[in-house]
Amino acid sequence: MNCWSATDAAGATLRNNEARPVMPFPELFIYDTAAELFEAAAHEFAVATSAAVKSRSKFTVALSGGSTPKALYSLLADRYASELPWNKMYFFFGDERHVPPNDPDSNYRMANEALLSRVRVPPANVFRVHAEEKDAAKAAQAYEQALRDFFSVKPGEFPRFDLVLLGVGPDGHAASLFPESAALAETERWVVANWVEKFKTHRITFTYPVINNAACVMFLSSGADKAAIVHQLLENPKAGLPSQAVRPVEGRLLWMIDRAAAAQLT
Ligand code: 6PG
Repeated sequence: MNCWSATDAAGATLRNNEARPVMPFPELFIYDTAAELFEAAAHEFAVATSAAVKSRSKFTVALSGGSTPKALYSLLADRYASELPWNKMYFFFGDERHVPPNDPDSNYRMANEALLSRVRVPPANVFRVHAEEKDAAKAAQAYEQALRDFFSVKPGEFPRFDLVLLGVGPDGHAASLFPESAALAETERWVVANWVEKFKTHRITFTYPVINNAACVMFLSSGADKAAIVHQLLENPKAGLPSQAVRPVEGRLLWMIDRAAAAQLT
């Protein structure tokens, strides 16, 4: 497996999931503090990068948005700016809000300010969603085409990212695969414009086939406000929430959380 071994996660309380008849194989790592969580996540990101570059001379990652990963991105820029082969690393976005890149809600803007503008990654290695496009479906199509041009896989195949980062939405959404939204049923498209009724807007998002074809998916969750949903997702298999359908076909599924987010786990 070109991701990393479970023992690499220094300082984690590794709980195998035998005792938890939940999703087939998440590897759960719980850290005492948010700082320790992001330290470990940055370490794993670096280990995954080195492994991929060593075996395939490149590392492909889909960044997540929202607020949680910002601390990881900042730490990567602070600590690994001179250590990682940024010219061999390719950055994509697992989802994006339907806003221009300079909008405060833009996932690209967040990641660019926290990481991409602070390290020597060639601009050509950063693939953002052109969400300034008024027609969200066109933005999704164009992004799918950008992935197809980059990954150039056979018809019917899906791209295989080395790493897909995901946050945990309070309603159990992953990327922008929200409960009761159309994109949950997508089995062929790589990227779609998904209407999110509660926000009355589209989100441009990877679909399950792309996420579940990754070599490694890392969920990151921090803070007491995530404890209830983390408990639901990890201990209530019948909840049927979008994050529970994230199951890499041939890859690893890691849950990296802090003790506050783990507070309701039994
Ligand atoms: C987004 C994300 C989304 C996010 C969760 C968690 O664009 O918002 O990609 O899936 O990861 O909503 O968000 P927080 O990290 O802000 O809690």
